[in-house]
Amino acid sequence: MSDFDIEAIRAEFPALHQEVRGKKLVYLDSAATALKPKAVIEAVSQVYERDCGNIHRAVHLPSQRATQGYEGTRKQVQAFLGAEKSSEIIFTSGTTQSINMVAQCYGRPRLSAGDKVLITGLEHHSNIVPWQMVCEQTGAELVVAHIDDNGEVPLERIEQHLKAGGVRIVAFAHVSNALGSVLPAKEICALAKSHDAISVIDGAQAVPHMAPNVTDLGCDFYAFSGHKLYAPTGTGVLYGRFDVMNAMSPYQGGGDMIRSVTFEKTTYAELPNRLEAGTPNIAGVIGMGAALSYLQTLDWAAVQAHEEELFRYADEALREFKGLRRIGTAKHSMGVLSFFLDCAHPHDIGTIVDTEGVALRTGHHCAQPVMKAFGVPATARASLAFYNNRADIDALISSVRTVQEMFS
Ligand code: ALA
Repeated sequence: MSDFDIEAIRAEFPALHQEVRGKKLVYLDSAATALKPKAVIEAVSQVYERDCGNIHRAVHLPSQRATQGYEGTRKQVQAFLGAEKSSEIIFTSGTTQSINMVAQCYGRPRLSAGDKVLITGLEHHSNIVPWQMVCEQTGAELVVAHIDDNGEVPLERIEQHLKAGGVRIVAFAHVSNALGSVLPAKEICALAKSHDAISVIDGAQAVPHMAPNVTDLGCDFYAFSGHKLYAPTGTGVLYGRFDVMNAMSPYQGGGDMIRSVTFEKTTYAELPNRLEAGTPNIAGVIGMGAALSYLQTLDWAAVQAHEEELFRYADEALREFKGLRRIGTAKHSMGVLSFFLDCAHPHDIGTIVDTEGVALRTGHHCAQPVMKAFGVPATARASLAFYNNRADIDALISSVRTVQEMFS
């Protein structure tokens, strides 16, 4: 597609063309999970209708087709992330499993008392709890570079911790799921490297809006979830720089991750199989390949221009709304707009706008420390994808006005 044709794009997403509660669906919850294009739905159906074999295990044609689809997706992810080798791409169930894998396979054997893991005040619980767990297991300390009033993490706060010494791992979100703040990932990775720490990026909210290049970023690990990238749920990726990931012991033992097994001793397969024990989510991964192929048909400069314009339109409309407080005003933000109404609890906002067909997420967004930093129990959050349009934002504003009228 050489130009951005929003109607043609919307036509590819069947879920957009339904009524909910008697109203046309306005889907503004893509940061929770993105809708799926027809190409993904059809690819998953084809696996179950035709290519329903297990991968890497049989010579029959359905198995061979499934293996080709699964390994083909690995190469697509390699290209998407700009990774040097396809063996640097591990399929997981999502960002959460990817980060837990790094914490347990990289962190646990290497951390000890006196070491530190540095995270930021913006993190989703899935980039906090795995590090707390590994710190408890090893005696290492979890330290936090806190956010400022705009929801940004000033680089100096990260540098201060690194200069204090002892930081072995720096783990941070590329884009905040609660606020939309974009962190200067390349600069943080360079700082981590200059202090001999490895960098782990939670890219879950970045990949729907950009194609991050891991080589250019200079990160050691990059994690994301397929379902936020228009692919099936239960799929995720862990990219790991080869030398770093190759030194990791397996996370789980089982089929497909071994070279040889006797009762006395098991030797492990090379990467990537060593870190993918058991039958994976074959159909989901093949669906992820279909999502990446679909995304490649789009003109990304036009997609990004559309998303930026829509974000500005929504941001301005929310800022002009009397009695509404925007939560998170980082200069560089994308995808996510959080807000709080003086007159109504976010859960009431979510419930009432739902009656008008508007799907938002309300709550703490699995980022309780972010809520605490802003002194709110929860927020209402609208999140955008390239299939949204101005009419969606107008519907949001009109439904929030209804909430305000009901509560004031
Ligand atoms: N992490 C997802 C969100 O932010 C579920 O909504």
